[in-house]
Amino acid sequence: MSVKQLKTMYPLSYIEPLFRPPSEWKSLILQVTNGCSWNKCTFCEMYTGENKKFRPKKIDLLEQEIISIAQSGLPVSRVFLADGDAMMLPFKRLKEILLLIQKYLPQVNRVSSYCLPRNLTNKTVEQLSELNKLGLSLLYIGCESGDDEVLALINKGETYQTSLIALQKITAAGLKSSVMILNGLGGPELSQQHAQNSARLMNEAQPDYLSTLVVSFPLGMDRFSAAFDGAFRLLTQAELFAEMKALLTELELNKTIFRSDHASNYLVLKGILGRDKTKLLAQVEQAIEQPENTNLRSEWQRGL
Ligand SMILES: C[S@@+](CC[C@H](N)C(=O)[O-])C[C@H]1O[C@@H](n2cnc3c(N)ncnc32)[C@H](O)[C@@H]1O
Ligand code: SF4
Repeated sequence: MSVKQLKTMYPLSYIEPLFRPPSEWKSLILQVTNGCSWNKCTFCEMYTGENKKFRPKKIDLLEQEIISIAQSGLPVSRVFLADGDAMMLPFKRLKEILLLIQKYLPQVNRVSSYCLPRNLTNKTVEQLSELNKLGLSLLYIGCESGDDEVLALINKGETYQTSLIALQKITAAGLKSSVMILNGLGGPELSQQHAQNSARLMNEAQPDYLSTLVVSFPLGMDRFSAAFDGAFRLLTQAELFAEMKALLTELELNKTIFRSDHASNYLVLKGILGRDKTKLLAQVEQAIEQPENTNLRSEWQRGL
């Protein structure tokens, strides 16, 4: 559903732009915060607009919005809490929001949100488990990489260890985790260590979902490449496939739904890992050896 459709369907006033994971296309987007509380990752321009300065929405306003959605009678079974890291809200506020959703929209069976590892530092497993019981079921974590050198260069403000602790907390609380890793993020020089350490992080954390996107810079890459001292360049298609091969080779997952189908990818991959590892690796190898015989997205079909 586009923002335009959402606005027509639901009586909500969004501060745009609005982002949500592709799999939340059917969900009602409830903008409980505006912007991102960190907003310093050098590859991300999603919340850099003047109107996107971070601010939580007042609870009274949220209650009014939820009531008007309930009164509209429109079907809502899933809710996505926006914007960039709604999980930065304190436990108490998140609980209030979930209770309002339960009260006015009792048919909702899934609430999800983006989440930064640091959003969970001051939340205990018990508190997360309480939020889970109140309906919060899935958190999307942009780990982006498991390599500390890459994480420092992109100014994620997180490390292998902080990401792992957060992912383990999520699992311990009974919540599901969906991790995003960015292909091409370390440029050619750090490509192999980016792939290997990202796989190591995933193997230790065993997330429920894993998706890979290709880092892209529709607004230019000066801010991003500055940290690399001019040594960064985008990976070629062949290099991206080689990085994906390294990642898949190292992944030892028990039951993770793997998706590399975001519009930024040239090669669409979908499967369950470990079950489909051999099949997925064969698809990547074919793309490396015979790109002309592989179904790849053209440049114009790609996007963020
Ligand atoms: C809207 S952001 C919110 C995620 C959340 N704040 C986090 O960092 O965990 C969702 C994801 O979009 C992806 N993204 C952001 N900028 C991107 C870019 N320039 N190229 C590719 N993917 C990007 C990153 O994987 C990021 O985690
Ligand atoms: S990737 Fe996430 S944490 Fe980083 S600036 Fe973008 S929204 Fe914020």
